[in-house]
Amino acid sequence: ERGEYRHYMLKEIFEQPQAIADTLDDRLSGNRLRPECFGNEAEALFAEIKAVTIVACGTSYHAAQVARYWIEAFAGLPCSVEVASEYRYRRHVVPEQALFVTLSQSGETADTLAALRQAKQSGYRATLAICNVPESSLVRESDLVLLTHAGPEIGVASTKAFTTQLVALLLLTLALGRGRDIDETEEARLVGLLRSLPLKVEEVLRLDEQIAMLAESFVDKQHTLFLGRGEQYPIAMEGALKLKEISYIHAEAYPAGELKHGPLALIDEQMPVVAVAPNNALLEKLKSNLEEVRARGGQLYVFADFQVPLDETDGVNVIRLPETDDLLDPLIFTIPLQLLAYHVAVLKGTDVDQPRNLAKSVTVE
Ligand code: M6R
Repeated sequence: ERGEYRHYMLKEIFEQPQAIADTLDDRLSGNRLRPECFGNEAEALFAEIKAVTIVACGTSYHAAQVARYWIEAFAGLPCSVEVASEYRYRRHVVPEQALFVTLSQSGETADTLAALRQAKQSGYRATLAICNVPESSLVRESDLVLLTHAGPEIGVASTKAFTTQLVALLLLTLALGRGRDIDETEEARLVGLLRSLPLKVEEVLRLDEQIAMLAESFVDKQHTLFLGRGEQYPIAMEGALKLKEISYIHAEAYPAGELKHGPLALIDEQMPVVAVAPNNALLEKLKSNLEEVRARGGQLYVFADFQVPLDETDGVNVIRLPETDDLLDPLIFTIPLQLLAYHVAVLKGTDVDQPRNLAKSVTVE
């Protein structure tokens, strides 16, 4: 039931602190990850894994893209990511001792399921499904399973399924990184950060009213550009997908460094540019990309944490987010982008929970 909320999507956005807490529950013990949370055989198996392949569609694919940064940066394992509809129709070279991971809210997405079935014939060491539906085909057909505990997601636009997938992928990164690049101290630090997440998300949700006001600047626009760098690039992709899916505004995401290789030509007053700018190693680079936009008369909307030295000047609007560790940034910065898409759609009067032409679960090709 929607209860006090106008749409399921809004309700599901606000359920994220609980959904994240539920997904972490039982998987952590003190400042350790419970090794058995991927199944009893998982620990021994993960010790043998030398590479990871992740396959998914849509929003789940964006979560996979974030995980690539994490698995390579923290666990030190090579990780490749591909959309299922591409993966299933090409010949590929399967790395030695590779883990094949599928990500899916429904566990019934036709392309993802077909990719899994194909992978099972191709010499992977094992298959793992990260999924929100325990009795789904994907779960039944995979060797290992980690369920996200997002609860039922009704809105076609995926929100809490995405953030809980990110949490599950952090658990996977931990499980794979143990005995490799993650020692006990690092594990304790990462677990501590995970435990702090529900409250952090709660804090970001308080931006709701401010973002509802911001949405007014987008309603009459035809296009929007989203920029991010590093693991915020897939977050920019997710922000763009949410906006186009429910508000029908054409939105495109670019890694900010690509701007001058083409998209800069599109910039004028009619094209708002949304940037996700946490205070990380890439900030200075991103800031010079933003300057390129501002100098061409583009309207910038920058989501940045409090530490980021950025002034509101002509054409630059800054929306401040609570400070977090780099590790949690992708989760934290997703929330305002979901809210932005939601409020723009409400102002445009679209059918937020049932956007035109789309189905919740894409069970046919
Ligand atoms: O159930 P799945 O996670 O496999 O679904 C994949 C996509 O169809 C889904 O994420 C879609 O992109 C959402 N409507 C995005 O909000």
